Amino acid sequence: PRKIIIDTDPGQDDAVAILLALASPDEIEVLGLTAVAGNVPLELTARNARIICELADRRDIPVFAGCDAPLERSLVTAEHVHGRTGLDGPDLPEPTMAMQDRGAVEFIIDTLRREPARSVTLCPLGPLTNIATALMKAPDIATRIQEIVLMGGAYFEVGNITPAAEFNIYVDPEAAEIVFGAGVPITVMPLDVTHKALVTTARNDAFRALGTPVGVAVAEMTDFFERFDKEKYGSDGAPLHDPCVIAYLLQPELFEGRFINVEIETRSQLTLGMTVADWWGVTDRAPNATFMGQIDAEGFFALLTERLARL
Ligand code: BDR
Ligand code: CA
Repeated sequence: PRKIIIDTDPGQDDAVAILLALASPDEIEVLGLTAVAGNVPLELTARNARIICELADRRDIPVFAGCDAPLERSLVTAEHVHGRTGLDGPDLPEPTMAMQDRGAVEFIIDTLRREPARSVTLCPLGPLTNIATALMKAPDIATRIQEIVLMGGAYFEVGNITPAAEFNIYVDPEAAEIVFGAGVPITVMPLDVTHKALVTTARNDAFRALGTPVGVAVAEMTDFFERFDKEKYGSDGAPLHDPCVIAYLLQPELFEGRFINVEIETRSQLTLGMTVADWWGVTDRAPNATFMGQIDAEGFFALLTERLARL
C-alpha cells in the first residue's frame, strides 16, 4: 500500500476523507494524522481527528498536533460552515485516545527522513502551515516526498471565503507559496473539482442506508454541512472537498486535469490567497502542479459508499 500522512483540520469533509483512507488498507497505509488550525482552532481539530479514528475503531493511528496559527497572519476559521466544534451534526463521544507527544512538524520531518526516499505521500486537507513549516525547517525533505496531493484553491470556480480565494489557501497564503514553490510533485483538488462532488439527497440516503455507525455519522455530518452550500450557492448538496484527495489515490482515473503553473497571491488585499492557475498556458512560467478540473462524480460516490460500508 501507498504510505500517506493526512494533514487535516476536521471539518466534516476532512472526516469523510480520513474514513475513506482508513477503509482502504489494501491501497493506503495511513502513517499518521497531523492536525492543523483551520476550520476551527487546533485544539478542536486535534480532538476531531481522534474522534474519527475512534469512530473507525482505529485507536492505533497516531495523531499529532501541529501549528496553531498561520505563518504570518491571524487564524481565520470557518464555524459558519462546520459549526462550533468543526464536526457539528452527529453526536459522537469525546475521544479517549491520547495525542502523541511529538509535534506534527517533527513527525512529518522524521517520517520523511526515515522512510525510503519518494515513498511517502502528503495529503494536506487544510491550510498548509504544517507542511510549509516542515519544508522550512528541513529543506532536505523536499526531494524525499513522493507527491503532495492537496485540497485547495480554485480557478474557474474562484472563491468560497473571499470572491477570489478558496479557504485553505486563503488562511495561510505564505505557507501555500512555500509549498507550491518547493519543487515537489503536486496534485491539486480545487473547488473546480470539489463543487462537482455534491452529496445529493439520494447519495446521502445511501450513506445512511449502510446502517452502520460510520454510515449514519457520515449522513449526519453531511446533513449539517450541506445547509451552508445549499443556502449560499443554491447547490444540490454538500461538496465533499477533502475526500477527493483520497479518492485520487485510489482511482486517479476519476479525475482529469492539466499540469500547469500555479502561483499564490500573497500581497493584494482583494485577491489574497488566490491560486493564479495558468490553465491556458498564456505565460512562460514553468508548470509546478497538476491542477484538476473534472471528476466522475458518479464513480466517486460509488467508490466512497462501497468503502465506507467496509468500516
Ligand atoms: C476546504 O475548506 C474547509 O472548510 C474544508 O474542510 C475544505 O478543506 C474547502 O474550501
Ligand atoms: Ca479541510
